[in-house]
Amino acid sequence: MPTPKPLIAGNWKMNGLRASKGEFEAMIAGATPELVGRADILVCPPVTLLTLFADFAAGSPVSVGAQDTHTETFGAYTGFLSAEMLADAGASAVIVGHSERRAILDETDAMVHAKTLAAWRAGLAAIICVGETRAERDAGTAVSVVERQLAHSVPDGATDDRLVIAYEPIWAIGTGLTPTSADIEYMHGHIRDLLVARFGVEGRGMRILYGGSLKPSNAKEILAIPNVDGGLIGGASLKAADFLAIASAVPAR
Ligand code: 13P
Repeated sequence: MPTPKPLIAGNWKMNGLRASKGEFEAMIAGATPELVGRADILVCPPVTLLTLFADFAAGSPVSVGAQDTHTETFGAYTGFLSAEMLADAGASAVIVGHSERRAILDETDAMVHAKTLAAWRAGLAAIICVGETRAERDAGTAVSVVERQLAHSVPDGATDDRLVIAYEPIWAIGTGLTPTSADIEYMHGHIRDLLVARFGVEGRGMRILYGGSLKPSNAKEILAIPNVDGGLIGGASLKAADFLAIASAVPAR
């Protein structure tokens, strides 16, 4: 069974104005056949830029995604956006359960589960984020925390074309810190085992991204780790040069 094609995904978080379109255009221009032969490229801008970026990306190998979804299709939910709306705006994927939303908005695994089902209903791939805090890592519970998040966030019926897992240790996000390669390899291998145990051969094809202070200087080492099928990149995805440098570090398979 071949390993999954890597995915390099940018999470712009609450960054980016219409004036940022030059960076996105540079990403499209830099997505050469050689580069997209190695990895799929996805950019998740704020929703205000989704349609604009989707229009720019039309006909290019770069895809656009969203950063969150509501669970319902439509209705009296002021300020929220449904997965159908995101798909209509041009998204092909949506990030769910990012640790910033889990922390700031108290998003639970049950909510992430429901959001994933909503994404699938609308035809979007779901990128489910999991990861431990510094205190949990220090207490030796990182693996059990991730196990619990996966067990309760990932719905039955997941397939390798619509489920992506992003392992993002919370203490590594935006801090410049990263786990050791051995720790990343152990966690990703364990996530792979859990996916295969639950979904059989489909689990082998599911992409497991690493996220947390991924940058051009550490991408080569991290992206070469077994069962690291690409990255979910925050800060370094805002600049085309950095984002493309990370994508170029994906090993040729
Ligand atoms: P940084 O790459 O800025 O650490 O953010 C990672 C992240 O949270 C991506 O979702």
